[in-house]
Amino acid sequence: MPEVIVIGGGLAGLRSAIECARGGLVVSVFSKVYPLRSHSVAAQGGINVPLCNHPDGRDDSWHRHAMDTIKGGDFLNDQDAVRFMCMDAVERVVEIEHMGCPFSRTEDGRIAQRPFGGGAFPRTAYAADRTGHAMLNTLYEQCMRLKAEGLIRFYDEWHVVSVIVDGSICYGIVAYNIRELEVRSFPADAVIIATGGAGRVYLNSTNALINTGMGISLGYTAGIPLKDMEFIQFHPTSLYGTNILITEGARGEGGHLINRDGKRFLSDYPDSSVSMELAPRDIVARNIVREIKRGRGFEDSYVLLDLRHLGERRIKERLPGIRELSMKFAGIDPITTPIPVQPAQHYTMGGIDVNARAETIIKGLYAAGECACVSVHGANRLGGNSLLETLVFGRVAGRSALMHARAGVGRRGPLIKEYEQRETQRIQSLLKSTGRLNQWDIWERLRRTMMEDAGIFRSRDGLKRALDTVRNLMDDYRGIALHDKGRRMNMELYWAIELWGSLIVSEAIIMCALERQESRGSHFREDFPERDDQDWLRHTLIHYNNGKPVIGYKDVDTSLFKVTERQY
Ligand code: FUM
Repeated sequence: MPEVIVIGGGLAGLRSAIECARGGLVVSVFSKVYPLRSHSVAAQGGINVPLCNHPDGRDDSWHRHAMDTIKGGDFLNDQDAVRFMCMDAVERVVEIEHMGCPFSRTEDGRIAQRPFGGGAFPRTAYAADRTGHAMLNTLYEQCMRLKAEGLIRFYDEWHVVSVIVDGSICYGIVAYNIRELEVRSFPADAVIIATGGAGRVYLNSTNALINTGMGISLGYTAGIPLKDMEFIQFHPTSLYGTNILITEGARGEGGHLINRDGKRFLSDYPDSSVSMELAPRDIVARNIVREIKRGRGFEDSYVLLDLRHLGERRIKERLPGIRELSMKFAGIDPITTPIPVQPAQHYTMGGIDVNARAETIIKGLYAAGECACVSVHGANRLGGNSLLETLVFGRVAGRSALMHARAGVGRRGPLIKEYEQRETQRIQSLLKSTGRLNQWDIWERLRRTMMEDAGIFRSRDGLKRALDTVRNLMDDYRGIALHDKGRRMNMELYWAIELWGSLIVSEAIIMCALERQESRGSHFREDFPERDDQDWLRHTLIHYNNGKPVIGYKDVDTSLFKVTERQY
């Protein structure tokens, strides 16, 4: 019986597992955490879908959705992939609704929708401000049913350390059980990487600690190029102090961003003067930072998100999660007090290079969700499109893996054993390491460097400094020591393995950011402040060639819409 392995228990991973199991294959889902703790569970504001349920959204369509997505992405999106995603949106959302996802409702019982940044119509369907939680639990319930039928197995708290590849074909994975440190190889006919993003290479991030980019590094070191790694999204509104996400839904519901004079300052900036709080995230995040730098923020660090005018009833009904978070983590109630917010890293637009069938250049190896770059988000993702991407391309990845696995690839015993031995040795040498350096210092320096020199505003000097630092940290990594030599729940070992993945992914982000000498979407170069369609309307690719990163390029598909200016 053919077998498929899915790495990652978030929305993209579970949706792809369901697809394979529905096709009658046995699927094993490997997750370094219990699947319901995957970062998808933290998604708040909603999922974009042109349902036309909102009174102001009657004229919406897949075409308008695609147009907004491409303009929001500053025209770096592959438009054929965007068309596919937007055309599939209604079917995927209705499907998960029928699985039992508890979406918020309109008065007459249809799925409710709210405005989100960069959208011409209110098209973001939501479950209050806990949409990811609702969706992940729904898919997990379906997986439980398929598990009872023997079609899905879960390997919870298994850490995948390698993808087994020979030339251009994938044969399985190597993973270890975090609870007991049992290293094992798992042969498979197809493998899907669905491990989420790399947010935690930055100091200030809305992401769960597990989002280190480790899954992206698995594809990268297996020989797949990474695409558009320079594009890192900063969410405009994270809670000051903790950087917990304060959903864009709060602005969608009508929240205002105000400076120390109580002014809605986004009107002062040409690129956000019309749409204000509902301009896309890259623009709003930059203008918040500019406002703070001009001395009109608070404590040189934050501005305020004012929801008071929405009223108690609406806040309690539509934004209960962020009210609770504000009360617990900042000691304020948004019903009576504005929320202190600042931009924080939120999303990795780039990732493992895949086509619209979720295929990589390695046969039998697929990627979906945030770890992958299709590219539907281009240079800047619109809020609400990541949940949609997980459903659309999770299903596609499942389907592609299913077809490939049915054909069968055969087993490669000696190769699989060789990988298992190599990874066992790597883990043993980490456990035995006697170096003098401390991995936590490396983590701290990495995250500070990425924040300071590869963040919202970038320049050649800063990026070069960041590259030097990261390369020095790579050298330092070889000199770390692990103090915990135990086999049970050795989290020091776990983090040391993750750290190498974070370092090589950070190097890729910086190299691609240095390479792209223009400003587009989330990538803003102070030394090249304009978009340059002549030279840079193309994707960057980065290959890990015998441990040395090499940059290349790829064309952008512009078959649907003309490339135009971008004002909001
Ligand atoms: O603001 C939010 O609720 C985030 C949504 C998203 O990243 O899509």
